This record gives sequence, C-alpha cells and structure tokens, in this order.
Amino acid sequence: MEGEVRKDERAPSGVEVGVSNVKLHQLSEDYPITPKEHGIDFLLQRRHLWLRSRKQMAIMRIRSEIIRATCDFLYERGFIRMDTPILTPAACEGTTTLFEVEYFDLGAAYLSQSGQLYNEANAMGLGKVFCFGPTFRAEKSKTRKHLNEFWMLEPEWAYAELNDLIENSSELIRYTVRRILETRRPELAILERDTKKLENVNTPFPHITFSEAVGILREGGLEIGDKEDFGAPHEEFLGDYFGGQPVVVTHWPKDIKAFYMKRDGKDDDVVLGMDIIAPEGYGEIVGGSQREDDFDILLKRIREEGLPEEVFEWYLDLRKYGSVPHGGYGLGLERFVGWICGVDHVRECIAYPRTLNRIFP
Ligand code: 4AD
Ligand code: MG
Repeated sequence: MEGEVRKDERAPSGVEVGVSNVKLHQLSEDYPITPKEHGIDFLLQRRHLWLRSRKQMAIMRIRSEIIRATCDFLYERGFIRMDTPILTPAACEGTTTLFEVEYFDLGAAYLSQSGQLYNEANAMGLGKVFCFGPTFRAEKSKTRKHLNEFWMLEPEWAYAELNDLIENSSELIRYTVRRILETRRPELAILERDTKKLENVNTPFPHITFSEAVGILREGGLEIGDKEDFGAPHEEFLGDYFGGQPVVVTHWPKDIKAFYMKRDGKDDDVVLGMDIIAPEGYGEIVGGSQREDDFDILLKRIREEGLPEEVFEWYLDLRKYGSVPHGGYGLGLERFVGWICGVDHVRECIAYPRTLNRIFP
C-alpha cells in the first residue's frame, strides 16, 4: 500500500494511512490462522505463519532488544565476545543430557550444553569474555521452562569471585529490564504485561544460601531433602517470597551441582555456586559459579563423576599452566524473555522451538 501517514489518536498504533494505491503481490486464500482460538499444537505446527501475529511479533521484538541490551551491558564493562564451538568432544553439564552426533572417523561428538569450559580458557587470555549462542540439552522434560535447544549468554572473567558474579548478573538483569521498559512499552502493552512488576525490580537482589532456602521452603510447608535440587513448586515459592524481586541462591551442596564448581573453603560439601530465580513462577534464569582452580581437586572431581579424563586434558591444562580464581554464569535467554514478556511457556520465546515432540517447522 502507498499512502499518506497521518497521526490519529483513535488508531491503536497512533497513526492511520490514507491509502492512495494498492498493489497485489499474491492472493492468499484460506489463511489458516483466524481470529478464533486455536489450540497450541495447531499454532506450533504453523509456527512459520503464527510468527506474523501481533503477540508473537511483540515477543520477538522484545527478545531482540533483550539480546542487544545484555550484550551492551557486557561491552560497556569491557567484555570481549569470543564464541565457543557447538560441536564438542565432552560434556559440560552432565552426561545424561548430551545430543550425540557421529563425527567422521573420530567417533562421537556432542552438541554443546554450554560454552563455559572454552570461556574459561579464553578468560585466561583476554580477562573478561562472553559467548552467546545456542546450547543443547537432550532433556526429556515437558515443562514450560524446558527447551532442547535454547540460547545462553555466558560471561566469564578472571578473578571473579562469588560476590562479583552476584553483582554482575543482578545488574545485567536490572539494566535489561530497564531498557525494555524504556524502548518496548508498546510491545509490553500488546502482551498485556503488568509493567508495575517490572518497574519494581531493583538491585541488590535478596540473596540466601541453599540451606536458608531449604529452611524457608520447609517453613512454607514444602517438602525438600537436605541435598535435593529444587523442583518447580520450590522455585515458584522462593521466586515469590521476596516481594517480586529475583532471588539469588548461593552455597549449594556439591552433590547436585556440576563437577567444575569450586568448593567452599569452609565446607567441603558445599560449592560456590549461585542461581537466580525469577519471580512470578519463571524459575531459574541464571546459573553460575566460581570455578575449581586447583588441579588436584578438579582431577578428583572429574574422576568422582566418572568423566573421561582424556577429553578434559586441555581443561586440566588451564589449572596447570597459570591458574587464577575465576568464574562466570549463564543466563537462559528464553526464560528471561518469558519473564519480561509475561509469557508462560518458553516455546513462544524462541522463533522455532525444539521440544521433546517437536522439530517441525
Ligand atoms: O544452570 P545451567 O545448566 O548452567 C550452565 O550451563 C553453566 N555452564 C553456565 C555458566 O556458568 N557459564 O544453565 C544456565 C541457564 C539456566 O539458569 C536456565 O536459565 C537456562 O540456562 N537453561 C535452560 N533454558 C531452557 N531450557 C533448558 N532445557 C535449559 N537448561 C538451562
Ligand atoms: Mg542450573
């Protein structure tokens, strides 16, 4: 259409077009998506068309701006983007969720679960680095928080200690939420997001240790073991416990966390890990830790976990040839998008979701 754009308060977008010319490019008949309610499977099967809907476009616009804001935040603080490989020889986050591919004559390779191990190497050269890309988990979960392919932003830096990780990740979240409130109000309105909840988000976020969290949960009538990872009900309870602020949980039992996390000097069973749990039921949006920087302890942990030593040789080298305290975290993009948009399922927070029963379109 060609025409003159005029301001008009009555129009939902604030403007109207006085059309002077129309050219037909293609005549679409029986467009499958209509204003009536469609089931989610129907829409996901037509994701390539569903993405043209107002709400879906609003989510994608917000997602794009979230990516820009998080990268801006890190660049402003001197981080260098240094992306990490997708095809890798080893697991980072546990062997049970690996996607395996055949790699020519070299045998099995795996789709990356996280760029962290490479980030650690990179941080020993450049100091402050980050990667941002797709990560893969062969998780057979059908929850509203799980995708098999999701995007993760992972900063890693030399000399980072637990408090630095908490500070940096909390500020990144606050910065990004502010940016979306500044630049994406119309999209938040299309999504009918209660923006007061986002406006309330402020740093420092409350932080508690894992054992304090267990105490809060039990007091609230929820059952949880001393070394049991949180499930959805636990995350929901903790996420709403602090009046709408994300909560940072630190000092986790080593048995339920990854092999690379540095043990706490005061308690060998506890690691210096930190998770951030979003309010409103959106769950864990950040997971990070200080890294074990001692060669012998790391080797012991690799053996305890039954991981193949030879593929971690290069990773162990990092503790042999100049090792300094360091750490980082990963922010799960789709969960973060879901929370900011107020969209309950991560499958709408990525253009083409990959879930247990879906790889089409
Ligand atoms: O807690 P995770 O597994 O941590 C790591 O992968 C670390 N290596 C990151 C690091 O320290 N550099 O994952 C980080 C975040 C989670 O907090 C969650 O937000 C998201 O990634 N995530 C998922 N998002 C969607 N679907 C899944 N299956 C996810 N698994 C993790
Ligand atoms: Mg985690």
